Amino acid sequence: WKIYFKMRIFFLGDIVGQSGCTAVKKHLPNIIKKKKIDFVVVNGENAADQGVGITEEIAKDLFNCGVDVITTGNHVWDQKEIIKHIEKEERLLRPENLITTSPGKGFGVYNSKNGFKIGVLNLMGNIFMKKCDDVFEAAANFIKKNALKDNYDFLVVDFHGEITSEKMAMGHFFDGYATVVIGTHTHIPTSDCRILNKGTAYQTDAGMCGDYDSVIGMDKNNSLNKFLNKDAKKHFPSIGEVSLTGAIIEGDIETGLAKSIRQFIFGGVLEDKN
Ligand code: FE2
Repeated sequence: WKIYFKMRIFFLGDIVGQSGCTAVKKHLPNIIKKKKIDFVVVNGENAADQGVGITEEIAKDLFNCGVDVITTGNHVWDQKEIIKHIEKEERLLRPENLITTSPGKGFGVYNSKNGFKIGVLNLMGNIFMKKCDDVFEAAANFIKKNALKDNYDFLVVDFHGEITSEKMAMGHFFDGYATVVIGTHTHIPTSDCRILNKGTAYQTDAGMCGDYDSVIGMDKNNSLNKFLNKDAKKHFPSIGEVSLTGAIIEGDIETGLAKSIRQFIFGGVLEDKN
């Protein structure tokens, strides 16, 4: 006989503002139970009330409701308090390829609820993003030093980037080396969940946990006024009903690669009615 082991990873896209945080806190515990989730990664770089950055308190709240690791991106330092806190909080990552003197780290290995070791790597794209080290060079160095089943049982890569081609290329670069490569930052979920040729699950962008009756999570009228060159304030999060979006990845215990990836869309204007 054989004991049934499974590994189900839940990834949620950028949590935007207070409404995004509230929705994650409200729904995540139920989703974990219902979908039998073993490990949760969220991108939290827009989680602060202003829609940029993250605070120590928000990070704690997210960990308390079932999040295992928080990734970030270009807005990581926008709430200054986090610069100190990230040094103490192993479960909070910033992009690995930030300039080398940056506080915190971009990679960690964590224990899942069911006893597996999960590596999480946070990368940031180079195209139309803040200046950071070459992301493909960083990825190549990483692959040289780390391997599935050696350093961790599964590997989740969050690629925080603006353009689809750079993300898709990174997916192929990690094919066979990661359980999943999933994009963040655009706040728009892409319907291209699939398993690449050598077994790595892939989605170009997970989307966001925020109000989609907006412009990528920000108040739509204010954002439109900016585009129209009318009087506008600094962007601020839209506070309507939230859609949670991301993907659920089933890992293969034998190989650490992916058995399946399914897009996840829950609640709000984007809810998957199929
Ligand atoms: Fe971003």
